[in-house]
Amino acid sequence: MKNNVLWLCFVPLLGACQPQTDLKSPGEAELISEGRAIVAANCSSCHNFELTGDSPREDAPPLRTVLADYNAESLADDFRESIHVGHPDMPDFDFGPKGTDEVVAYLKSIQESSEK
Ligand code: HEC
Repeated sequence: MKNNVLWLCFVPLLGACQPQTDLKSPGEAELISEGRAIVAANCSSCHNFELTGDSPREDAPPLRTVLADYNAESLADDFRESIHVGHPDMPDFDFGPKGTDEVVAYLKSIQESSEK
């Protein structure tokens, strides 16, 4: 009897864990690597975009930290509408919808916080 009760608790828990295992689907991995290429080409002159290290420009935060106080979705919207993303010196970018998804996927993938 005791064993049966334990199983009942365990099975739903497994179900709850399931969605996290396909977070990095093949499509997602491709988005991330495309995004990394865009970021390397467009952002790296000012921002560090790796998991460690400092930015070339002192006043530009490493990109692994920016989503901590910037919501990924609103950043995506800003890029999508090619709105100036909050800093005077930064050029305006127009990546198109696909490029935006890629850049944001990459940014999410390198964030220090657990917000992935
Ligand atoms: C010419 C230099 C330059 C380039 C190129 C550049 N940035 Fe920036 N970026 C900055 C500076 C300087 C800041 C910080 C100034 C500020 O917060 O007002 C900044 C801040 C940011 C922020 C934080 C904005 C906020 O309001 O907190 C984000 C997000 C960001 N950059 C994304 C990017 C991305 C993505 C790219 C490439 C597509 C990029 N930047 C390219 C100079 C640059």
